[in-house]
Amino acid sequence: MSYPKPSRRSWAEPWKIKMVEPIRMTTPAQRERFMAEAGYNTFLLRSAHVYIDLLTDSGTNAMSDRQWAGLMLGDEAYAGSQNFYNLWEAVTQYYGYKYLVPTHQGRGAEHILSQIMIHPGDIIPGNMYFTTTRLHQELAGGTFVDVIIDEAHDPANPHPFKGNVDLAKLRRVINEAGPRKIPYVSIAGTVNMAGGQPQAMENLRAVRELCKRFEIPLVLDATRAVENAYFIQQREPGYQAKKVAEILKEYCSYTDTCTMSAKKDALVNIGGWLATNDEGLYEEARNLVVVYEGLHTYGGLAGRDMEAIARGIVESVDDDHIRTRIGQVEYLGNHLIDWGIPIVKPIGGHGVFLDAKAFYPHIPQAQFPAQALTCYLYADSGVRTMERGAVSAGRDPKTGEERFPSLELVRVTIPRRVYTQAHMDVVAESILEVYEHRDQARGLKMIYEPKYLRFFQARFEPVT
Ligand SMILES: Cc1ncc(COP(=O)(O)O)c(C=O)c1O
Repeated sequence: MSYPKPSRRSWAEPWKIKMVEPIRMTTPAQRERFMAEAGYNTFLLRSAHVYIDLLTDSGTNAMSDRQWAGLMLGDEAYAGSQNFYNLWEAVTQYYGYKYLVPTHQGRGAEHILSQIMIHPGDIIPGNMYFTTTRLHQELAGGTFVDVIIDEAHDPANPHPFKGNVDLAKLRRVINEAGPRKIPYVSIAGTVNMAGGQPQAMENLRAVRELCKRFEIPLVLDATRAVENAYFIQQREPGYQAKKVAEILKEYCSYTDTCTMSAKKDALVNIGGWLATNDEGLYEEARNLVVVYEGLHTYGGLAGRDMEAIARGIVESVDDDHIRTRIGQVEYLGNHLIDWGIPIVKPIGGHGVFLDAKAFYPHIPQAQFPAQALTCYLYADSGVRTMERGAVSAGRDPKTGEERFPSLELVRVTIPRRVYTQAHMDVVAESILEVYEHRDQARGLKMIYEPKYLRFFQARFEPVT
């Protein structure tokens, strides 16, 4: 039999749907009321009032049947749960670290790490800040210094590895502060606040060499390191023939320790860990986790949660999975690029990031254009997104001054294995609709500002 050769071959998800969760549309009048009641902060909306929820990819993943089956194998012993050993084995096999301390989520690991490693007056260089990571560093008395390449601060720059560390900047920080004042260099792959942008293997290797010379440890935020490994496979010479799993292990091998929010790459709804090759750090973390999270064999998690993570790790490094996960993000992003809507380029790993400064050039950053854009999107279609700009950046803890970052973004974050391409079409069309009415948009005034991580609970009202 002979068939005509297709001119294109689409990708499809390597799974089919076994269970569904209904979602409901609201009316424009209802959404206007819900947004006002939520103080114009999408974090304060009820999820029942949201149509397509793209607030975050954190803990919003759909688990597989194997993971759900694993929940039934939860060993809920207070100490020595079998699921802990399964998780430890999976982390060692796929991420490569020797020792594991589970935590309830990523910030639990960041807290423990910061309390152990940072002393007042220390400097922590890193490839762009992340909100909870930097706050824990500051609460321990440290100061974060950004050493990411300049290209990362320019949403339109197409550099394929905008998560790279600028080695000259890092060298300068080490020379100025002195290596003794630097407890570790903080690396994230991919870089969330830059728009889900990856770091090249070559760059991490070079950072490793530099740090080795000064005996400075490297700590990886491995939250989306699988997505980073996929970008290395796609973009970095010499990696095309390698499996994502292999690349992930090499990437982690250049670091000493990692913190992890398993709620992202690892395809679960809760969990995290601190993993390390440093026996001394492990000893201290094993001790401290008991104070803040739970015994070192559960760290605030149920046995069943640890089992789901262990199984999720195996699924997360599957090449077909990660290609379609990022393929879906690219599908949405490419629609927006085709329509001339300003987004961060290249398209990131876990979401499409709208450039609110270019979207609303008439709204000053002090009136939070990205926060306003999240409200207009919700009002238009019930799609929930989140701000990653001046509200998220917060204030300098020393001066109390607002920090106005170069990037003023709206994160349109895609949960893993949850929505279909038809949902992505609806989202794209809603963004286009809001873009076409951009001239009428107004900014916001903050009327309630929490002390820590203000973006979660701040309240606003429209500027008149
Ligand atoms: C890069 C990065 N690091 C750390 C965290 C913190 O993890 P968690 O939310 O599990 O505490 C997050 C969560 O959004 C993240 O995106």
